[in-house]
Amino acid sequence: MRISLQQTISKLKQGEVVAVPTETVYGLAAPLSNLEAIEQVFALKGRPSSNPLIIHVSDVEQILRHVTQVPPAFDQLAQACWPGPLTMILPIHSSLVPSKVRAGLETAGFRIPHHPLTLQLLKETGPLVMPSANLSGFPSATRPAHVEEDFGQAFPVLDGGASKRGVESTIIAYLKEEWVILRLGSLSPDFFQPVLGYCPRVIHKLTEDKPLCPGQLFRHYAPNAKLILGKQEKKEENQETGEAGEALGDVSFILGFQERTYPKGKRVLAMGSLFDPQGVAENLYHILRQLDQEKAVVAWVDMDFPREGLWLTIAERLERAAVDQDRHDDRRQ
Ligand code: TXA
Ligand code: MG
Repeated sequence: MRISLQQTISKLKQGEVVAVPTETVYGLAAPLSNLEAIEQVFALKGRPSSNPLIIHVSDVEQILRHVTQVPPAFDQLAQACWPGPLTMILPIHSSLVPSKVRAGLETAGFRIPHHPLTLQLLKETGPLVMPSANLSGFPSATRPAHVEEDFGQAFPVLDGGASKRGVESTIIAYLKEEWVILRLGSLSPDFFQPVLGYCPRVIHKLTEDKPLCPGQLFRHYAPNAKLILGKQEKKEENQETGEAGEALGDVSFILGFQERTYPKGKRVLAMGSLFDPQGVAENLYHILRQLDQEKAVVAWVDMDFPREGLWLTIAERLERAAVDQDRHDDRRQ
């Protein structure tokens, strides 16, 4: 159910959870000051309580009020990225952030989103916690209709159109005297080079003894359809002989690129253009959701694209969506 900004403000003040737009993905919002509403966010999503939430605010001062230390280059990062798709993990005064929000950690994630409606909303309501507005484990929501698919037609959504970025914020933390990326996102690693003077390393959960970004441990972004990631080999020959079609066997759906041709007889869903990673990112969760709308059982995904800039994030999301499907027991049915 689409609601106005005024209705959104009053529902939040009454302790109701609502979905709101951001430039990355839609968020499921609850006031930082309302523990009951925060618990409802976890319950609605089916989210493990060990996975902390990001705090969204309208200005830097509200962040500074919560933190115990400001790491080097904080101002430069804030200036270059906010409002925008960056989340900074910062050490906080634990009395100011409920333990439930930060999953017991001594840090919290902060972000100033870049969406006119939500910035206005945040000015009225103060800090809001917001995970992505999808059922835990499934593709994120980038359009109001996606939120309604997951939570029902009656669920209140502030309609801010399709999310322009289409993938989540980049999460960074200052560890051992350097900024590192804990989750690839809308801002690619090379974006930070001119801001920091170096390109932050991407920390992968498996290379650390303890999870730095707990959310990375859980199943993510996966549709019900099984995804097979691959590259077309001997493309020319295959098109003539139909060999790839045979190799693809039971696969009836292909996620591909508009410039390419694929074996005949398959339903091809175009993720976008090989020359427009931002367009692909914007479309990504919509296309993954479309597979389920069309009741696809197995889909082959064309992974033959560059591994640089925003493509790194696109590849990571698709890999997570495919790999995590093996853990079917973990997921909400
Ligand atoms: O673009 C986004 O960031 C979207 C929009 C709605 O703002 N939000 C989003 O939230 O992606 P969510 O809950 O789907 O993902 C939050 C991620 C999780 O992986 C979580 O583990 C990590 O942020 N996170 C939150 N607090 C953290 C903390 N204190 N330390 C490390 N990671 C944290
Ligand atoms: Mg999420």
